[in-house]
Amino acid sequence: MGKDMDKGLTDVGVLVDQEKRHLNYLRISITDRCNLRCLYCVPEGRIPKLDHDDILSYEEILRLVKIGIQLGIRKVRITGGEPLVRKGAVELLGRLTRIRKLEDVSLTTNGVLLAPNAQQIFDAGIRRINISLDSLDPQKYAQITGYDRFEQVWSGIQRAREIGFTPIKINVVAMRGINDDEIIAFGRLSLDHPFHIRFIEYMPIGNSRTSPQDQMLTPEIQEMIATIGELTPVGNGQNDGPARRYRIAGAQGEVGFISAMSHHFCNRCNRLRLTADGKLRACLLSDRHESLKELLRNDGSDEQLAEIFRIAVRHKAAKHQLCPDCVTPVKDQMQGIGG
Ligand code: 5AD
Ligand code: SF4
Repeated sequence: MGKDMDKGLTDVGVLVDQEKRHLNYLRISITDRCNLRCLYCVPEGRIPKLDHDDILSYEEILRLVKIGIQLGIRKVRITGGEPLVRKGAVELLGRLTRIRKLEDVSLTTNGVLLAPNAQQIFDAGIRRINISLDSLDPQKYAQITGYDRFEQVWSGIQRAREIGFTPIKINVVAMRGINDDEIIAFGRLSLDHPFHIRFIEYMPIGNSRTSPQDQMLTPEIQEMIATIGELTPVGNGQNDGPARRYRIAGAQGEVGFISAMSHHFCNRCNRLRLTADGKLRACLLSDRHESLKELLRNDGSDEQLAEIFRIAVRHKAAKHQLCPDCVTPVKDQMQGIGG
C-alpha cells in the first residue's frame, strides 16, 4: 500500500454495522453496459445508459478500493453490466490482484467475451470466476438473452477450464416456464465437470420482462436436483458467499442454491456494492445509497470518503424487504448495481 494512501485516514477501523456484521467484501460494477438483454434484467424498449462522464474511472475505483482496504475490505468482485465490454477491464483486474491486502479478487461475467480474454484474465491473477448461463439450449439461450451467443459462452467456459480457473461457478437464474425444464440438465453438468452450478432465485429488481410468477424457490429446485442422486452438504469455506452447497453423489463438481427470497441470508451478509456511477449501496435489495462521486471529483480527502463508507454501513438494513408476492421496492436497474 502506497504511503500516500495511508496518510489521509485518521480513524482507521473495520466496517462493522449495527447487526455486528463485518463488511469486508466490496462488489464493484464497472459498467452498466451489457452485450446481452436478459429477460430478468432488461425491460422492454430502450433503457437509459449512464453517460461516460458519470462512470467512475479506473483510477477512481482503485482509490476507493484502497480506502476500502483501510477499512477492512479484503475481497473484491468485479461485475457489470458485463465487465468485459469495458475497455481496460483486464488491466484493472491485474491492478487489483497486485494489491497485497486483497485476499480475493474475482470476476462475474456473462461469458460472451470470455474465450478470447480468458488467458489474459488468468495471467492478470484471477482464479475464481462466475459465469451466468441460464440455458444449455442455444435457441432457448437466445430467447432469454436476446442474442444467439450460446456457443461463444460455452467455448468461454471450456477455455476457462483448460486454462485452470477454479472454481468455475455457473449462475443459473431459475424461472418457471422458461428454463425449469433444464434444471436437471444443469445439475447433471456437475457430474462430469468440475463446475459449481448455482441456482439463483429470481429477485424482482428494477424493470424487467419477468414477473414474480416466473419465480421458482429453492425447495422446489432442490427437490428436482435430488432426483439425480443423493445430495451431500459441502462445508462452507471462508470465502463462500450465501450459496448452500452440495455435491451430488459421484459428482466432480457441486450444486449450490442462492435463496435470497425463500431463505434470507441477510444476517450473514458481508457485502457492500459500488455502482458504476460511484454510489455505495449497503444492500442489493434497497435503493438507499451514498454517493462518492462528488467528493471524489471535488478534492474530497481519503478521510471524507472513508466517512461515506461508514455512513453507508451505519444505514445497512438488518434485512431486506423483498418477499415472493410483494411489489419490488428496488427501482434501480440491476445492470448499474451489479449482481
Ligand atoms: N434475480 C436474480 N439474479 C439475477 N441476476 C441478474 N438479475 C437478477 C435477478 N433479477 C444474476 C445474473 C448473474 C448474477 C450476477 O446475477 O444472472 O449471474
Ligand atoms: Fe447483461 Fe447480466 Fe443483465 Fe444479462 S443479467 S443483461 S448478462 S447484466
